[in-house]
Order: sequence, then C-alpha cells, then structure tokens
Amino acid sequence: MPTVLVTGGAGFIGSNFVRHLLTSDPAVSVINFDALTYAGNLANLTDLATHPRYTFIKGDITSRADVRSAMQRGVTDVINFAAESHVDRSIMDSGPFVRTNVLGTQVLLDAAREFNVKTYVQVSTDEVFGSLGPTGYFTEETPLHPNSPYSASKAGADLLVQAYQHTFGLPAVITRCSNNYGPYQFPEKIIPLFITNLLNNEPVPVYGDGQQVRDWIHVLDHCRGVEAAWRKGKSGEVYNFGGRCEMPNLALTKLLLRLLGKPESLIRYVADRPGHDRRYAIDCAKAERELGWSPQVSFDAGLRETIAWYQANAEWVSSIKTGAYRAYYQKQYGKL
Ligand code: NAD
Ligand code: DAU
Repeated sequence: MPTVLVTGGAGFIGSNFVRHLLTSDPAVSVINFDALTYAGNLANLTDLATHPRYTFIKGDITSRADVRSAMQRGVTDVINFAAESHVDRSIMDSGPFVRTNVLGTQVLLDAAREFNVKTYVQVSTDEVFGSLGPTGYFTEETPLHPNSPYSASKAGADLLVQAYQHTFGLPAVITRCSNNYGPYQFPEKIIPLFITNLLNNEPVPVYGDGQQVRDWIHVLDHCRGVEAAWRKGKSGEVYNFGGRCEMPNLALTKLLLRLLGKPESLIRYVADRPGHDRRYAIDCAKAERELGWSPQVSFDAGLRETIAWYQANAEWVSSIKTGAYRAYYQKQYGKL
C-alpha cells in the first residue's frame, strides 16, 4: 500500500490533491507535510482531520531533519507541491523563493534517494517556459526561459530533478501545468482576489492593459493529471497539463463582473507587473496520449462553481483577508 508524502498539502492545489487522492483510492495513505506559511491553511482540510489514512506533519522542506523524520514513517512516494507560488511576492523578495523552491527541492531529492522512493513527482509550472507571442504553444520540448524570480526558482528545481534522475537514476517525473482556479485558492491570485473583492463591492486591480493571456484549468483536472503522472508517468519525462482555455485578463475580469452582476466601473487599471509574461498556452497532447488524461471541467461550469464556493465560505475568506495582506497590495500597486 503506497504511503505518499504530499508536501505543501495545506495550500491550494495540495489540499485539493490530498482530498482527491484519499477519496478516490482506498489503498493510499497520505502524509501531508507542510510548513504552514501564509499560504498554508489547515482549515482547507478540516473534513479530513480525523481520516484514518491521513496524517499531518508540520515541517519545512528545507530542513533535512524535518524531512528525514517524515520519511521514516514508511514513505514510498513523494509528490512535491510545496513552494512559494506567487509571482508578485517573488518580485518583492526573491529570498524565500530560492530557499523553498530550489533548496527545499534539493533536500527532498536527497531524502528520496536515501529512502529509495518508488516515484518522486515534482509539481512544476508552465511559467518555466517564459512568455509566448500571439501564436504557438508550450510543449514539453520548449526550452526553459523563466522571466520572474518565481519561475526561475521553479526552473532551477526542475533542473535539479532532472540531474538527480540522470545522475543517480532517481525515478522522477516533472509536471508543468497552466493557471489553476477552484476552491481554497488563496485570494492573492487573480480569480479568488477578484471574486472576493467583487462580493464586497470593492474594485478589482487589472495590471497594465489587461491583455495578458492565461490558460485556465480547474484544480481537480490538475490533481487528476498529477495522479496520472505519479501512477503512469515514465521516469525522466515531463508532462504538461492545461485547460485549453485561453483568456485575456480583461475578458476574464468582465466575465466575473457579469457572473456576479457587478458594474464595470469597479475595474481599476493599475501599474503593470514588472517583467509581466504576455501569454501562456499549453499543448497537453503528450499527457492525453501517454497518460490517458484530459481536462474534464468546462471553464463556465468550473467558474460558476468556484464563485458559489467563495460565496458559501465567507468565513474562510475573512480569516485570510487581514490588514497586512491589504497593505502588501497597496504598497505594490497603489491605493485600491
Ligand atoms: P500555495 O501557495 O497555495 O501553497 C503552497 C503550500 O506550500 C502552502 O501550504 C505552504 O505552507 C507550503 N510551503 C511553502 N513553503 C514551504 C516549505 N519550506 N516547507 C513546507 N511547506 C511549504 O501554492 P499552490 O498554488 O497550491 O501551488 C502548489 C504547487 O503547484 C507549487 O509548486 C506551484 O509552483 C505549482 N503550480 C501552481 C499553479 C497555480 O496556478 N496555482 C499552476 C502550476 C503549478
Ligand atoms: O501559469 C501557472 C502559474 O499561474 C503558477 O505557476 C503560479 O503559481 C500561479 O500564481 C499563477 O501565476 P500567474 O502570475 O499567472 O497568476 P496570478 O493570479 O498572479 O495572475 C494571473 C494574471 O492576472 C497575470 O497576468 C497577472 C494578472 N493580475 C493578477 C493579479 C493578482 C492582475 O491583472 N491583477 C491582479 O490583482
């Protein structure tokens, strides 16, 4: 019976993944290993707190002692979601990004070798490929060209994973996914930030001209992809996941306004993100062909369900939206 160490399992995608794995496979145990940074929230997993196949360990992936002590609990596989994940924060201070995303990955890789794991999965991002022009797609062969401190730290981690696989024969796969949305996403990312602001009749800050394009995928489709890469992926391979749903930020903003019945006067054009990537779009044909995976959730249904989740979970939102959080955005992008 596999015992999977899921790092970063108290964050947005990690918590959705833990729930997905435990509810879909009665033969898997999960150890959720998370440092509980500002983005980690055990309230994301209250329904699983007493689940017989679930254990939570508070630990830091950059600490060899923390990681070794977790691995000693019979871990057979490692799936690494733990990261500093927000581009704007990496522009303010890249230190924690290099520490967690690069050094933390190295510590996990050493532990994966030492404990002879069956498979190590590195959850990476399409941002390592950089920015596209108006046409074309990222494939697994696209050269790495990260543009932000966040994506550079994720690319550094990916290269370490590939080096450990090549040099030591560590069984490892890398997944690279496009922009996720869905329940439990921290309201600093565009979709939950805009939904929660609009529910309070507050303005929404569109960076620059709002014509940057992102490829949206529901978090459960990403979770199913990571699971497929873990179970069926070939060591040394990279698998891209995307939602085949490209949308400029301004169009997304107007869609959210319409779904929430709010006026366009709530749009605020603010300073652009420094080094802002213009367009991401994923070609996920390899994952479809080799893993039998494909995105299942339509953007229309997924977005409506996500809005309903944030409406129903106002307490979760208000516990996060602190004064400090607002001050960060005011400092970076001017008064909102
Ligand atoms: P998140 O910021 O919501 O969660 C990150 C989690 O990692 C938090 O629970 C945090 O407490 C934990 N963490 C941070 N530093 C840690 C450390 N040193 N030790 C242990 N735990 C630590 O992030 P997310 O959006 O859920 O992203 C999860 C992973 O997926 C990241 O690796 C990210 O790069 C990748 N990814 C995200 C997206 C997206 O759209 N959000 C898309 C593709 C890939
Ligand atoms: O592509 C995958 C990546 O998607 C993940 O690797 C990252 O962890 C995740 O944060 C996300 O990165 P983005 O920078 O694309 O996501 P974010 O929600 O921060 O921004 C999405 C787009 O919206 C981007 O073009 C910037 C813009 N934006 C964002 C915010 C927060 C705004 O215009 N206004 C905002 O307030």
